[in-house]
Amino acid sequence: MTYKICVLGGDGIGPEVVAEGLKVLNAAGKKFGVDFVYEEALIGGIAYEKFGVPLPQETVDKAKASDAVLLGAVGDWKYDTLPPEVRPEKALLGIRKALNLFANLRPAIVYDELVSCSPLKSEIVAGVDIMVIRELTGDVYFGEPKGISTNEAGKKIGFNNMIYNEDEIERIAECAFQTAMKRNKKLCSVDKANVLDVSRLWREIVIKVSKKYPEVELSHMYVDNAAMQLIRCPKQFDTIVTGNIFGDILTDEASMLSGSLGLLPSASLSDGNGVALYEPIHGSAPDLKGQNVVNPIATILSVAMMLKYSFNLDEAYQVINAATKAVLREGYRTKDIASENTKIVGTKEMGDLIAKKLMEL
Ligand code: IPM
Ligand code: MG
Repeated sequence: MTYKICVLGGDGIGPEVVAEGLKVLNAAGKKFGVDFVYEEALIGGIAYEKFGVPLPQETVDKAKASDAVLLGAVGDWKYDTLPPEVRPEKALLGIRKALNLFANLRPAIVYDELVSCSPLKSEIVAGVDIMVIRELTGDVYFGEPKGISTNEAGKKIGFNNMIYNEDEIERIAECAFQTAMKRNKKLCSVDKANVLDVSRLWREIVIKVSKKYPEVELSHMYVDNAAMQLIRCPKQFDTIVTGNIFGDILTDEASMLSGSLGLLPSASLSDGNGVALYEPIHGSAPDLKGQNVVNPIATILSVAMMLKYSFNLDEAYQVINAATKAVLREGYRTKDIASENTKIVGTKEMGDLIAKKLMEL
């Protein structure tokens, strides 16, 4: 079996973490008898430099022609003054839309080995295992009208539209219930239905879909309360489903349960046979570029998710997770998760250790 992977390193530390992801993917391929061929393409600032746009058509075409996409990160402060349409972040939104990646799975798992990395007390975070399902192609991110204009009084006004139609809510709710069915059958839908009309529709449709899944225990939580509960008692959550902007914010928060943004992977899925995209949830950290210091684990675990969700290689997924844990148990750490009595290693060394360990398991 040969799969074609579209590789989008992007900006900043993106290419460095992707290189470690591919190292582990190759090792897993060898172990499980699968071949991968790679097709690189440009996205973000690096694409803007070469083509004048952050998401060239060629990149979209290559992504669509692949079996899965692995993405590093996009963005650099040097592009902060560019017009919004050509900023690197626009490319990320563009590729999500182009591939119809409406379901973003962001697991927040606290490894026993890393409990002490979290800024929260160990007894609060030990054992946390949450799957956040973030809607990824709607909401204020894409809603129209949007812009900055001038009102009658000559004052500038900025506006975006938080908008969801029932089909968009229904398909993400379906995905969430199906995910919850494979987990602990507990789903919490996060909205702001006490204030927002769009959230009232969200809640109505989630309840409608829930009738098909009587085994799943459904609860609803306002987003401000959810932000608080994630810190107060994260273990009450199993699967969370929420809209694009709430999911963006809550998953950065959830990453701190595990101690580092460098640990959280993600999968962005489409429906049916669509190509999926895998990326760490962290950004491009341009200040750390080229220093071999960043944590590649989020990308390596994203590769594990690719094997599971795109290629049904559950065992390979398990082995990469087990190898990562084993390396952490042996005391190896990148700088972001280092503590007393641990052995600090660089990005490449962490990739080597995990790739080697998975061959041994
Ligand atoms: C994320 C990021 C992106 C988002 C940015 C870079 C556009 O924060 O993937 O969480 O807001 O979705
Ligand atoms: Mg974010």
